[in-house]
Amino acid sequence: MVIKELFRKKYYESECSVFEPKLGVLDLTSIGIGAIIGAGIFVITGKVAANYAGPAVVLSFILAGVTTAISALIYSELSTRYPVAGSAYSYTYATLGEILAWLVGWNLVLEYGLSVAAVSAGWSGYMRSILEKELGLSIPKVISGAYEPQKGTYFDLFAFLAVLVVFGLLYRGVKESARVNLFIVMVKLFTLGLFLATGLFFIGIDLSNLTPFIPPPGKNSMGEDAYGWFGILRAASIVIFAYLGFDAVSTVAEEAKNPTKTVPLGIMFAMLISTFLYISVSFTLTGIAPYKELDVAEPLAKAMYMHSHTLIGNIIAIGAIITITSVMITMGLGFTRVVYALARDGLLFSKLAEIHPKYKTPHVATLVGGLFIALIAGFVPLTQLAELVNVGTLFAYFTVGVAVLYLRLKKAPPCGYTVPMAYLLVPINLFLIMLVVSALPALTWKRFLLWCLIGMAIYILYGYKNARRQA
Ligand code: ALA
Repeated sequence: MVIKELFRKKYYESECSVFEPKLGVLDLTSIGIGAIIGAGIFVITGKVAANYAGPAVVLSFILAGVTTAISALIYSELSTRYPVAGSAYSYTYATLGEILAWLVGWNLVLEYGLSVAAVSAGWSGYMRSILEKELGLSIPKVISGAYEPQKGTYFDLFAFLAVLVVFGLLYRGVKESARVNLFIVMVKLFTLGLFLATGLFFIGIDLSNLTPFIPPPGKNSMGEDAYGWFGILRAASIVIFAYLGFDAVSTVAEEAKNPTKTVPLGIMFAMLISTFLYISVSFTLTGIAPYKELDVAEPLAKAMYMHSHTLIGNIIAIGAIITITSVMITMGLGFTRVVYALARDGLLFSKLAEIHPKYKTPHVATLVGGLFIALIAGFVPLTQLAELVNVGTLFAYFTVGVAVLYLRLKKAPPCGYTVPMAYLLVPINLFLIMLVVSALPALTWKRFLLWCLIGMAIYILYGYKNARRQA
């Protein structure tokens, strides 16, 4: 093994170039919101408020939002410098070299794959809620949730089926058109707007639910350390998940009009709107319902049902199902794309880059990945999945932060948008990332390390020999 080859960089022909422009700031913002808002706000908010932060989950959303926003600036810079597919994987390949790029890419497989599974758990929760409340069906408990025997659930059948359907669509080559995406964004904004309006004006914030705003440190119902300042940090390490997806904007950089301006603006607007909604929705949710009662699969709808707003609860549940379906498709597409890119570059088995003769999709990656992810969605609880997704994602955020510092130190000539005050903002970002990941439990760390070790084994036994390197 030659050390120099481990750090070999990929030179993208498109470096600094601008492609045929089509998308403007509004399109890019809408692509961002389409990918960002999903199960994070519709499901995870309730779980982390109940189990870790109480009403102070609002502060967790702010911390996770600031951390992600700086990463978003970093992605903006790199996406204008390298307007190519592959996101953090390609940026790392071009700057820090092959081995780190492989690790980032391998973690993106984890991020995209497991986030489909995680989001499907939210889809399943809202679907069951509608079937039970509206149609009076009763779903047997054992198949109504992932493997958590203490809660009486063993397999989440709906999540399993939802993932299979999404990957079935991806196999055939589904791609949301800009118009469908705009419709889904409208549904998201309408659904969350309806929740806010009903909560704030018809139900009203009950201050007793918000006091104490930061519950005193103690144990949660699962016997874990929770609440207090640690609880806020612990919740932030989970709600990072809610901001995932902003890089959907940077991946279409090559199709943007004047990308050096519009891509950063699109990312920033999408992040600002999402952060504003997350803060106001989590504040309203914990203001209208006691946080301890929100550890359910459909907290926003449940809060409405608690106040006898059944119709509004049902509308919110339907809005959540539509919203979450679109996030599943986006993340599923991201998964197949990144697996394809790794296999095409020779770092993963070439079979996974095989394109279907009729549908023109990476069908082997889609079938094999879809089956694995569906099984994971059936068995593994949402919070555990989200944590694992986050640690992989934060690893990618950290690496691209280092990549930007590397470009500055190397005095690479600026190429369009650049992170302002990079020497200050990037170290702050790296610090915040370390702070947030430090709150993840040991088990998540062990799983992450195991994933990286498997990745390294694949690299040593396969990728190193087969990587398609430039001469
Ligand atoms: N940010 C996406 C969501 O919350 C993954 O569903």
